[in-house]
Amino acid sequence: MGLLLADKVAIVTGAGRGLGRGEALELARQGAAVVLNEYEEPTGQAVVDEITAAGGQAVLVAGDVSEVEVGDRLVETALREFGQLDALVNNAGILRDRTVVKMTPEEWDAVIKVHLRGHYTTTHAACGHWKDSKRPGAIVHTASTSGILGNFGQANYGAAKAGIAAFSTIVAQEMAKYGVRSNAIAPAARTAMTESAYGQIPLGDSDFDFWHPDNVAPFVAFLCSEEAAHISGKVFGVQGDTVEIYQPFTSVAVIENDGKRWESSQFVERVGELFEAGGIVPQAEFMMTKLRYTMADRG
Ligand SMILES: NC(=O)c1ccc[n+]([C@@H]2O[C@H](COP(=O)([O-])OP(=O)(O)OC[C@H]3O[C@@H](n4cnc5c(N)ncnc54)[C@H](O)[C@@H]3O)[C@@H](O)[C@H]2O)c1
Repeated sequence: MGLLLADKVAIVTGAGRGLGRGEALELARQGAAVVLNEYEEPTGQAVVDEITAAGGQAVLVAGDVSEVEVGDRLVETALREFGQLDALVNNAGILRDRTVVKMTPEEWDAVIKVHLRGHYTTTHAACGHWKDSKRPGAIVHTASTSGILGNFGQANYGAAKAGIAAFSTIVAQEMAKYGVRSNAIAPAARTAMTESAYGQIPLGDSDFDFWHPDNVAPFVAFLCSEEAAHISGKVFGVQGDTVEIYQPFTSVAVIENDGKRWESSQFVERVGELFEAGGIVPQAEFMMTKLRYTMADRG
């Protein structure tokens, strides 16, 4: 098979480091011209230089992607420099971990802004272009298991990431009639971000570096391509040599009251039926312990 993204044009946000860098390089390797966004200009320019040195095409739009002007400029740059836009990879993100009691309003706002607003600005601009131009498009958003499962100390980040999974699903529904697809990934890899969350992650013994950030990019490139034209509104876990698919929030059990409004006190007797039928414990759970792949037990 030839290149997956020959003659395509893609945007990648937060592309200076970590997963975004790997995604920009892989999209370029698959034939796409890439418009990179990065908050830190020299870091972003270094990736642009790496792509052009390898014979690819890339330009940088430096700036904070949570600003509407930067989202607009990314789409304008793709159209001006490369004449079209085919794919958008929303990746830029930050952490400000703290338990909710200690979390400042600034820590809450910063994370919500970069992730949720940073996904909105680009998606809004790209979808507007695709709707007006009647051209198909593909978006890959970056969620996290922290949002899908919930992670201690990440109330701001997890709320943003769960919001991104919902945002992706809704964009997929709204844009289907315009031929635009929207999917989300929940990646896991060893990057500057995860070092700050988990400390230094050791390299494994095997030849394959399971937590290398570049392991995530091939699936993102595939989702951006026409080969994935039938896939939309889904959430995938991606790490190492594995790709998982998540089910959306799904009702698993119900209790009813014979067509009458409930008395509050009835739940004292009846609520247990829900947990029993659903196979769910009523207490707060540490859902991250259900991860298939963790940095702690897979070096
Ligand atoms: N690494 C993981 O295991 C993991 C797990 C789940 C989700 N994610 C998500 O993947 C994405 C990439 O994470 P990473 O691990 O590569 O992190 P990273 O810190 O290595 O890279 C993030 C990049 O985004 C840039 N950035 C941050 N804020 C920006 C802004 N406002 N505008 C433009 N650029 C900005 C940073 O400068 C940096 O280059 C993030 O959305 C993150 O939440 C990562």
